[in-house]
Amino acid sequence: MKEQVLKKFEDLYGDAGGAGVYFAPGRVNMIGEHTDYNGGHVFPCALTIGTYAAVKKRTDRKLRFYSMNFDSMGVIESSLDDLTPSDAAGWTNYPKGVMWAFAERGMKMDCGLDIVLNGNIPNGSGLSSSASLEVLTGFYLRDLFGFDVANVDLALIGQYSENNFNGMNCGIMDQFASAMGKKDNAIFLDTADLSYQYAPLVLDGAKIIVTNSNVKHSLVNSAYNERRSECEKALEELKTVVDIKGLGDLSEKQFEANKGAIKDEIRKKRAKHAVYENQRTIRAVEALKNNNLKEFGELMNASHVSLRDDYEVSCDEIDVLVEEAWKVDGVIGSRITGGGFGGCTVSIVKDEAVETFKEKVGAAYQERVGKTADFYVVEIGDGPSKL
Ligand code: GLA
Repeated sequence: MKEQVLKKFEDLYGDAGGAGVYFAPGRVNMIGEHTDYNGGHVFPCALTIGTYAAVKKRTDRKLRFYSMNFDSMGVIESSLDDLTPSDAAGWTNYPKGVMWAFAERGMKMDCGLDIVLNGNIPNGSGLSSSASLEVLTGFYLRDLFGFDVANVDLALIGQYSENNFNGMNCGIMDQFASAMGKKDNAIFLDTADLSYQYAPLVLDGAKIIVTNSNVKHSLVNSAYNERRSECEKALEELKTVVDIKGLGDLSEKQFEANKGAIKDEIRKKRAKHAVYENQRTIRAVEALKNNNLKEFGELMNASHVSLRDDYEVSCDEIDVLVEEAWKVDGVIGSRITGGGFGGCTVSIVKDEAVETFKEKVGAAYQERVGKTADFYVVEIGDGPSKL
């Protein structure tokens, strides 16, 4: 990858001498879905796939972007004086959003950049290609301009830019997982206060498999933002009867005792998911610590059911993948992962069942959905780096 982006840099912009090459990972979430904007816990890990960039400073204020994943768009030009979102800017709205967010915090770039990107996260797979691009941007800006920010800030700035520049009201999970990733570890993050612990996720006798449905339904962002506001409304209603800051503050029992305050059945289901999913996540990490992979898997399965029925962010294609996975002997747990409405599932599968899993789930998906699923045995990697 390093050679590829440098070669492309040279082809497009001439001299690649002095260009730095950087990487930031995508992520997969093991459990704790749609809890990160509800003050709950999440349990994601950084992947070894992600986004790469070759970057070099210019002497003027011009910005030139090129992505090897969007060849047909060619070089997209902009300037430090034009850090505003636009449809025409396409994918460059992500790096531009991060540059804008740094400037908002008083960290202004004093010259433009030439940039070539290449990523190996499948597009639209829900493995956080956008968060990896945001963290990558923050990481090279820090390196090139000496901005005084920690990796946690890179996550927060990435999220801020996505919320306020790109109009997606995402939580902090994806950017945090990318910026703070640690090889062979998942991150047990409490989104209420950003306290976190690393938990080793080297599974004895089992693998983590990500299955890509190769489906991405439209209106994902608006459906996501809608779920978020439903939860906010439910929280307001609950606050009239119980003293909490977020849905993550409630146990299942407390929720059941107070849910009458929520005056709408849909909102009640959404809030129920947020509360129960948070408790499942806490329990899952405990189970992992106790080497109880069976319980971890059962909690993953329950997470899927809740995301399907109460939070309603799954879709037929993903449900087929999960149902078929559950049928295979040696599958410890399987669920949808990420924001939903397509994308990927994550499964824990015993070593000896991995090949059968791919064959059976792949064939059933082809037969029932008429599409090909892709399977990746996942490796958990580190956060961003300069190569
Ligand atoms: C998307 C968002 C995250 C998180 C997940 C759902 O990936 O970017 O912040 O809310 O969906 O868990």
